[in-house]
Amino acid sequence: MNLPFAESYKIKVVEPIHRSTREQRDRWLLEAKNNLFNLKSSQVYIDLLTDSGTGAMSQGQWAEMMLGDESYAGASSYYKLKESIQSILGFDYFLPTHQGRAAENVLFSVLVKEGHVVPGNSHFDTTKGHIEFRKASAIDCTIDEAFHSELIHPFKGNVDLNKLEKVLQEHTDKIPFVIVTITNNTCGGQPVSMENMRQVYELSKKYGKMVIFDSARFAENAYFIKKREAGYADKSIKEIVKETFQYCDAMTMSSKKDAVVNMGGFIAMRDEQLFREASVFNIIFEGYITYGGMSGRDMNALAVGLDENTEFAPLETRVEQVAYLGQKLTDAGIPVQLPYGGHAIFVDAKKFLPHVPKEEFIAQTLAIELYKECGVRGVEIGTLLADRDPGTRENRYPALEFVRLALPRRTYTNNHMDVVAAGLINVWNRRDQIRNGYRIRYEAPIMRHFTVELEAVKP
Ligand code: F0G
Repeated sequence: MNLPFAESYKIKVVEPIHRSTREQRDRWLLEAKNNLFNLKSSQVYIDLLTDSGTGAMSQGQWAEMMLGDESYAGASSYYKLKESIQSILGFDYFLPTHQGRAAENVLFSVLVKEGHVVPGNSHFDTTKGHIEFRKASAIDCTIDEAFHSELIHPFKGNVDLNKLEKVLQEHTDKIPFVIVTITNNTCGGQPVSMENMRQVYELSKKYGKMVIFDSARFAENAYFIKKREAGYADKSIKEIVKETFQYCDAMTMSSKKDAVVNMGGFIAMRDEQLFREASVFNIIFEGYITYGGMSGRDMNALAVGLDENTEFAPLETRVEQVAYLGQKLTDAGIPVQLPYGGHAIFVDAKKFLPHVPKEEFIAQTLAIELYKECGVRGVEIGTLLADRDPGTRENRYPALEFVRLALPRRTYTNNHMDVVAAGLINVWNRRDQIRNGYRIRYEAPIMRHFTVELEAVKP
C-alpha cells in the first residue's frame, strides 16, 4: 500500500479557535456592516481572508528572533537579510520596508509619474492603487485563458505578449516599467512560466523598459515551474528561483507570503542609481536604509524564512493542501478557478449565484453566505475590489467574480479544510434561494473594499 502524503512538519505551539452559532454570526455581520474586514478575529472560526502575515513561523525563525540586532544603523540583522537576498534571489541592493505596499510606495515614488501607463498581469489591488494614486494607469495584459475559470492552462498567470507589445507600441514614452506578478494573485494564484518571464523581459528590453516582479509568491511560482514546465523537473527550487529573477531588473516583495513572516517587505534591485534614488524615499516613508520599517528580529526571521521556504517540501505541503480543498469542492460540482492556485481556491461566484445581479456584488454576497453558514471568512475578489474607474467614477465590473479562500501557511489542518468544504457545499445546495445581494451605504474614494459599508437588498 502506498503511504499517503502528509505535512512536512509537526506542530509545537497551538492557538485556540472557537465555533459560533448562526444567530451570533447574523448579529456580528450586521454590526460589521456586512463587511467581513470589520469582523473581530474572535468572531471567525476558520480565517481564510488572506495568506498574508497569517502563517506559522518555524522553530528556526523563532530562534533567530532572539538574536535580532535592534541597532538603528548597520545592524547585523540587516546584513543577515542582505546576504540571504543576495545568495537566494541574486540582487546586490535591497531596501527593507514594513510590507509589500510600502515597497511599492517607495519604488513607485521614484518611477511612476502622472500620465504614465504600467502594463502587467492583473496588478494586485495595492499595486494598482499606488499607480492610480499617482494619476497613472494600469493596463492588464493577462492571457485570455485566465478569465475562463473552467479552462485548464498550466500557466494561467502568464502575460499575453501580443497585448503587451501593443501597449508598448502605443504608449512607449509613457511606460516607466512592465510589472509581472508571480504568482498572479488576482487571477487565482496562477503561476507564470519561466518561458513567459523570459519573453516578457526580452520584449520589454526591445522597447528599453525595465521589468519589475511583484514577487509575493515567487516560491510557489517556482514550485509550479518545477511541476509543470518542461526542463525544470530536476532543478531545485533554489535554482529555479535564481533563474526567475534574472528576468527582471528589480522586485518588490511582501514578505508576509512566501517568506512566512508576520510583517515585512523589501525592494531589491541591481542598479545602484535606482537604489540611491529609492533610498531617499525609503528614509522618508519607512526608516533608515538598514531597517526600513522592520525590527532587527523580524529581519532575522525573514532571512531564515526566505531560505527555508525555497525548499521543495514546505511548498509541496502547502500547494497540496490548497489542492485538497479544491478537489473537495470540485467533487461537489462547485465552480472554481482551474487549475487550483498556489495560495488559495478561487470560487467562481457568477456561476455559483447566477440569480444575484452584478450591481448587488455577487462575490461579496457569496462570501457573506459562507460566513453565515459556518463562520469561515473568505474575501471578495470582485466588483468591490475592482473599485470605480478613476475617470468616470462608474463601477468596474471584472470578467470574473471570485470568493477567494486563502490558506495561511502551516496554520490549519486538512480537518479544517473539511469544515470549509462542508460549509460551502451547504451554501451550494441552497444557492437557488439566494437571489438578492447588497448595496453600498459608505465607500472610500480609493481601495474601498477594506472599509465599505453595505446593506442587504431586500426581495
Ligand atoms: N502584491 C501582491 C501580489 C499581493 O498579494 C500583496 C498582498 C501585495 C503586493 C501587497 O503586500 O499586503 O504586504 O502590503 N496581498 C495580500 C492578499 C494582502 O491578501 O492577497 P502587503
